[in-house]
Order: sequence, then structure tokens, then C-alpha cells
Amino acid sequence: MTCLTLESVSKSFGDLSVLKDLSFEVNEGSIFGFIGKNGSGKTTTMKIVVGLLKADQGCVHVQGKRVDFGETATNRLVGFLPDVPEFYGFMNAMEYLTFCGRIAGMNPTDILRKANELIVLVGLKGSEKRRLKGYSRGMKQRLGIAQALIHDPILLICDEPTSALDPVGRAELLNILSMVRERTTILFSTHILADVERICDYVGVLDNGSIALEGNLDTIKSAHRSDVIVVELSEAAQGAAPQTVDRLRELPFVRSVQWQERLIHVGVGSLEADGRLLLAELAGSPCTVLRYQVQEPTLENLYRAVLEPSEEVVA
Ligand SMILES: Nc1ncnc2c1ncn2[C@@H]1O[C@H](COP(=O)(O)OP(=O)(O)O)[C@@H](O)[C@H]1O
Ligand SMILES: [Mg+2]
Repeated sequence: MTCLTLESVSKSFGDLSVLKDLSFEVNEGSIFGFIGKNGSGKTTTMKIVVGLLKADQGCVHVQGKRVDFGETATNRLVGFLPDVPEFYGFMNAMEYLTFCGRIAGMNPTDILRKANELIVLVGLKGSEKRRLKGYSRGMKQRLGIAQALIHDPILLICDEPTSALDPVGRAELLNILSMVRERTTILFSTHILADVERICDYVGVLDNGSIALEGNLDTIKSAHRSDVIVVELSEAAQGAAPQTVDRLRELPFVRSVQWQERLIHVGVGSLEADGRLLLAELAGSPCTVLRYQVQEPTLENLYRAVLEPSEEVVA
């Protein structure tokens, strides 16, 4: 089922047209990686979804309910972690979550139960009584997720939650999001493609105001898969590599051979039929093969190919 729908959303700031007929859907239960360069309009889109900005045209629905600018009705269904979350430094995490729960209209018993549960989920147990002004960036982002989940939303929107974090902080935050996904759909914006590859199952690339590439991550990757097979030789076999490479180059079904130390990239016409012939050839060679793998394109290569179409997709 669809959790979030954007239909032909357009938004300009003065002469600057940021979103142009932007449409996409986020399915229930998925982690949608909303990818785009800095300044491409990710934050603008998310602010429209939570009713903080007014779209010039188009409409947004959360679980079938229309989002209206300034109206908070649909925000009961949505949790939002802004790109730079601001907190009251004099409060502690427990006080802050209680405050957010009250704003959301929750009763004190539910607030206490939910706040305690979330403090554990985001890994802040033991720090919940510390003043927020002493929190690190990573702790603030984690509290931001707890704050966004206090009222049990069906959709969590996180605007670049990992961008300001170090690698350990990023990994921790991605782990939390993976746990959250069990009960909440997530729309997650970023320009860090490695993060998307780690946790997202669906991606949409925002470029020039609309979606330039969209789909299930695995489907996109296999659609752009090149017919290149990577063969890795054992260390002991390296001496025999030149001979093997020469032999491969002579084979009629081999289109290209690139070789560097123990890695050989073999371009073929068909992964199935030619792959079998290649395997037979390798089995008869003096080299020990450690790895035989169809080359997968990385998200980075796909991204570059979409945004700079003159470049060939190479994995
Ligand atoms: N309130 C605003 N007034 C004028 N320009 C804005 C405003 N908000 C964003 N912009 C401009 O809109 C473009 C998209 O911004 P933003 O949505 O923040 O991109 P992203 O989040 O992808 O980095 C940028 O060029 C930005 O400078
Ligand atoms: Mg932004």
C-alpha cells in the first residue's frame, strides 16, 4: 500500500524553480532513499510533506489524506527529523520527549511508556537525564529520531540524518533506522550513496526538480548490469596470469579483457552461455580461480550515469 504520494508538486523561490512537477510514491514498509545533490530540493520537498512550506502546485497525500500547508492533521501520521534539529539545551532528553508528547496531545502514561521505550531504542539509556547542551551531534540526531517517533507515526521523514556524523555515528544511526523500519515507513534524504546502499530498498534520485531515476534498488542495479565477469586469481596463480589473459583474448565469445594483477575483467556477449564457456576455459587453465562474479554496478556509477548521461555506466 502507498504511504506517501506526491503528485506534480512544483515550488519556486522567486525566479528559482526548485521542484518541477515532482511526483513519486513511498510504499508502506519501505525505506525510501531520496537522493540528490546539495541544493537539489530535498529539504524543500520534505517541508512541503510536513506542511511547513506551501507548494505552488500539485498535492501531497499521507495514507490517502491530503496535506495542507499550516494544517497539522496529517502530522499525526508523520514524524519529522529536520536536517539541523534544535533542542532546548537546558532540558534533558526525558524532559524534551515529555514536552514533545504533550504537544502531540498524548496522555502522561503513554508519554512515559513511549519515552522510556524510545530512549532505549535510540541508545540514549544512561544519558536521558543529562542536559541536552552537552549532547554530541550523534546523540542529538538519535534524540531527534526519538522525538519524531513519540506519537507513533506511520511515516518517519529524516532529512540528511547522517550527513554531519562521523563514520561510527553514521553506522549507529543507520542501525537505528533499520530497527525503526519494522513498524514505520521511512523517507530518508541524503547525498551519501553508501548509506542508501546500506539500508534503503527503494530509491528516487531528485535532479533538476523531478525524479531522474526511481525504483527498487536491486531491480535498478540488475537493469544496468553490464555483461562483465570479474575473475580473481589466487596469489600462486599470478605468474600464469599473462598466459591466461592472452588465451582469453583469443576466444571468439570474449569481447574485452582488462587485467590488473590478480583481477581480470572479461566482457562477454551473454552472461549465461558465454559465462559457461568462460568457466570451462578457466577450469582447463593452470590458474586457480578464487572468485568468479558478475559485475554489479554501484549506485555511484548509476547516479553519475543518470546525472551525466554522456558517461557510460561502468561498474
Ligand atoms: N526559503 C528559501 N528562499 C529562497 N531560496 C531557497 C529557500 N529554501 C531553499 N532555497 C533554495 O532552493 C534550492 C533547494 O534547496 P533545498 O531544498 O534546501 O535543497 P537540498 O535540501 O537538496 O540541499 C537551493 O538552491 C536553495 O538555495
Ligand atoms: Mg537539505
